[in-house]
Amino acid sequence: MTSSTSLLATLPGQYYTDPAIFALEQSRIFGSRWLAVARASDVDRPGRYRTIEVGGESVLLVRGRDGGLRAFFNVCRHRGARLCTEADGEARRSLQCPYHAWTYGFDGKLVAAPNLTNMPDVDRSAYGLVPVHLREWLGYAWICLADEPPSFEETVRDAVTGRLGDPAAIGSWQLDELRVGRRISYDVKANWKLIVENFMECYHCATIHPELTEVLPEFAQGYAAQYYVGHGAEFGPEIEGFTVDGAAGFDRLGGVDPGRDRRYYAITINPQVFLNLVPDHVIFHRMLPISAERTLVECDWLYSKEVVASGKDVSRSVELFHRVNQQDFDACERCQPAMSSRIYAHGGVLVPSEHHLGAFHSWVLDALA
Ligand code: FES
Ligand code: FE
Repeated sequence: MTSSTSLLATLPGQYYTDPAIFALEQSRIFGSRWLAVARASDVDRPGRYRTIEVGGESVLLVRGRDGGLRAFFNVCRHRGARLCTEADGEARRSLQCPYHAWTYGFDGKLVAAPNLTNMPDVDRSAYGLVPVHLREWLGYAWICLADEPPSFEETVRDAVTGRLGDPAAIGSWQLDELRVGRRISYDVKANWKLIVENFMECYHCATIHPELTEVLPEFAQGYAAQYYVGHGAEFGPEIEGFTVDGAAGFDRLGGVDPGRDRRYYAITINPQVFLNLVPDHVIFHRMLPISAERTLVECDWLYSKEVVASGKDVSRSVELFHRVNQQDFDACERCQPAMSSRIYAHGGVLVPSEHHLGAFHSWVLDALA
C-alpha cells in the first residue's frame, strides 16, 4: 500500500476575477480595515491635499492651518460633486466645490455657500465635510472607512511588533523621521490577493529573483523570511549592503540594533501593506485595488534625513527592490489570466513552505463571511 499526502488548495479561481467578490472585498475588507494611504509628508503644508480612491470611495487627505492632518469623504455635502478631482494639489485659502461653490475650511467646516446667507437659520455646522477615521503611524496616514473601526493596535501595530519579536523594535528604525528617497508606482494587472500571496512566500525566489538571492542566499531555499526566518534573513558573507550588486549602502539608521545590522525583515500588514526593513533604509509598499484584475502599488524607499538632504545616490539600493518588484509583478500578471481558466476553477495547490498562505486565505474568507 502506498500513502500519499495531499497538498493544501488555494482559493478557487473566481476569487481573483469575479466582480461580485471584488465588490464584497471592497466593502468588507478595504471599506472596513485600517489602510495606509499616503506618506504624511506628501501633504506637508496647510492646503496641500491628496485624493485616494479606496474601498469604493474617494478620500481627501488635507493638511489644516493648525498643522494637523485630516481625512474626509471627497464628496460635497450639497449635491455630491467630487470636491477635489486631482490626485494631489494645493488649495490656497479653502476647498471650494467646482459646481455651486460651497466652500469648506481645511478643517472640513462649511464656511460659505452662495445664497445661503439669505437663510440665517440654516445650521452650517451640519453641512461640513464628513470625516474619515485617521491615524498617523510610521510616518504614514492610515484611514478607516468603517463607522466603527477595528482596534488599530490589534490589527496594525501588533502585526508589525509580533513579527519583529520585540514590541519596541520597529521604533528603532524611526520611520516617522525618515524621508522618501524614491517613490515608484506600479500599475499591476493582477488581483490584489495574488500580490499578497506572492509577497508572503519565497518558493519563487530561486527562480525569479537572481539579485535578491545573491544578497540573501538563504532565500534560494524557498522559505519566506517573515514566517520561517523570524530573526530576519542574513546577508551573504560577501555582501556589504542591501544593494543591487551587494556594494555597501549607507550608515546604519541611528536606532537600529547592531544585532540587526546584516539582516532583512519582511512584514505583511493585512490587507495592503508590505514592509521591508534593512539596516540603512526601509521599503514601504501600499496597495490599492482598482478592480478584480488590477491593483496599484505605490512603493517608497525611505532613508535618513541626512542621506536624502545630501543628495547621495540611492539608486543602487532602489534598483535592487525595484527589480524584485518587477519580477514579482510580472509573475502575478502571468498568473492572472489563468485565474479564469476552467483548470483553475477549484484553485491550485500550496507546497508545505507556502502553507502559511492558508492563514491569509482563511483571513480573507472570514472577512467576507
Ligand atoms: Fe458642491 Fe453644489 S455640489 S456646491
Ligand atoms: Fe518575490
